[in-house]
Amino acid sequence: MSHNGLLYIETVGCQMNVLDSELVVAALRQQGYSLTPNVAQADTVLFNTCSVREHAEQKIYSQLGRLKYARRKRPQQVIGVIGCMAQKDQDLIFQRAPHVDLIVGTGQLGEIPRLVDAARATRKRQTALSLDRREGSRSEVAASFESYDPLRDPEMRPSPWQAYVRIMIGCDKFCTYCVVPMTRGPEQSRPPRDIIHECTRLAEQGVREVTLLGQTVNSYKFTQDGRLWRLSDLIAAIHEIPAIQRIKFVTNFPKDMTDDLLEAVRDLPKLSRYLHVPMQSGCDEVLKRMKRGYTAADYRDMMDRVRATIPDCAISSDFIVGFCGETEESFQKSVDAVREYRFKNSFIFKYSPRSGTKAFELLADDIPEDVKRRRNHELLAAQTAISEEDNADFIGRKVEVLVEGPSKRAARGLSDDALPGWHGAAGPPLPTANGSSHDHDRDDFVPLSVIHSNDNVGGSTGWHALSEERTKGVANVAEAPPSLSTGSSSVLQLTGRSRCDRIVVFDGNLRLVGTLADIEIDDCTPTTLIGRIVTREIQHGSSALLPILA
Ligand code: 5AD
Ligand code: SF4
Repeated sequence: MSHNGLLYIETVGCQMNVLDSELVVAALRQQGYSLTPNVAQADTVLFNTCSVREHAEQKIYSQLGRLKYARRKRPQQVIGVIGCMAQKDQDLIFQRAPHVDLIVGTGQLGEIPRLVDAARATRKRQTALSLDRREGSRSEVAASFESYDPLRDPEMRPSPWQAYVRIMIGCDKFCTYCVVPMTRGPEQSRPPRDIIHECTRLAEQGVREVTLLGQTVNSYKFTQDGRLWRLSDLIAAIHEIPAIQRIKFVTNFPKDMTDDLLEAVRDLPKLSRYLHVPMQSGCDEVLKRMKRGYTAADYRDMMDRVRATIPDCAISSDFIVGFCGETEESFQKSVDAVREYRFKNSFIFKYSPRSGTKAFELLADDIPEDVKRRRNHELLAAQTAISEEDNADFIGRKVEVLVEGPSKRAARGLSDDALPGWHGAAGPPLPTANGSSHDHDRDDFVPLSVIHSNDNVGGSTGWHALSEERTKGVANVAEAPPSLSTGSSSVLQLTGRSRCDRIVVFDGNLRLVGTLADIEIDDCTPTTLIGRIVTREIQHGSSALLPILA
């Protein structure tokens, strides 16, 4: 059956999902598809989904509901649900949304081009799923989850100088609240040689910053040619790639934060001095019920080691409020932890019971919604006050920023050709940025950081929205005073991140994008440092000075 080759893809969730969508889109583009931001025009519609909280799933079902009647008028259309929800809910999705044609789990994404064709040709439902964790031995289940990392199409990255690189898939921690071990399967590290090859290729394509992804990235382990590689060994090797300027990794598991890794962050200049290490709760009883495998005192020891080794390292955390049996006293321990550790930011979630998890089976979801909501606000307020105070310390200081692109305000005023190869807010639609409710995040351009967090949903590979109950001004988004310039052809408001991962906005020339610039900080909000350029930078690979404020 013929079709118009237009693909609409909507992505919710974590960076893993963003990367998966990038790769799926690249594969479909090779088959001649092109992206459209308009679902009504697309003969192929994919939802790359998240199951971490119920809200994320409900939104996908309502999106699917909206397509039901349009689908009848478009017999050539194929609608697919891919990713975590597909793996978790499987045939249930066909029951709830009978017009869906395709269900493909996280471990089978390579099958999508073939299955889209098959669904259209046969008009029969197509399914590709990995085994459930109880359906086979660990190695059988692991074999059914394939790491999907084909060679990249540089066109498909949201920005040409930044890329996600998956270094492992899956998770074996089985925290009692979490679906990720089910939706992403057993923990499996990728071979170092594949990862280094991928980073080298990305560097050749112009990438300057790589973010290494894993659900528990610091648990990375791989024995290659008789040598054991840990994360610290891997980042040391990636550090050798000359064109790579910045290396980040998310998300860390507190118990696996070893000294060799902290020393690597301390000693290797290209490493961001930033660690995302979710604490989840400050209370031992809650941590035990969550089966996190550490106590509040263990977390404190870990933080003491981080501070002793890398005093200027920024730390961010995740917290769940209203987990089963969380008393007011337990909750206050999370507030105390936020105050004690002064996180750069925290991502705060109301507990959402998920079928298939131990907490869902064994523990009552006994904290009323209004209490969850109030705790969410309270923890967020504590965090926001700290973020603002700590950002204020930067005023008058100079920070080195890797320039990412126009700020959201400036991006709105740009034409599509302003930055060739750049797929930010002013460019073609991002494969990931469509349709969710937190609009204040969604249409921002803070490359690779918030575009995907439009619903605060996803796996735990690093989180960039601060709170489900956030109402204003605390998104991890470059917010800047309206007085700064926008849309000018030569100078406009740019955004980037400091070495400790703080968002910085400043005025400068677009040609700075992808370079390091020194910025003097004049002002701040809880989420953003606001400053001006103080140095001229030499463009990579060129001896010419850039006109910075032409
Ligand atoms: N309910 C609420 N938050 C959850 N998270 C994971 N599972 C749940 C759940 N069932 C949060 C954790 C994790 C982040 C990615 O999402 O804080 O670190
Ligand atoms: Fe694994 Fe993180 Fe989920 Fe725990 S919260 S099971 S470590 S993905």
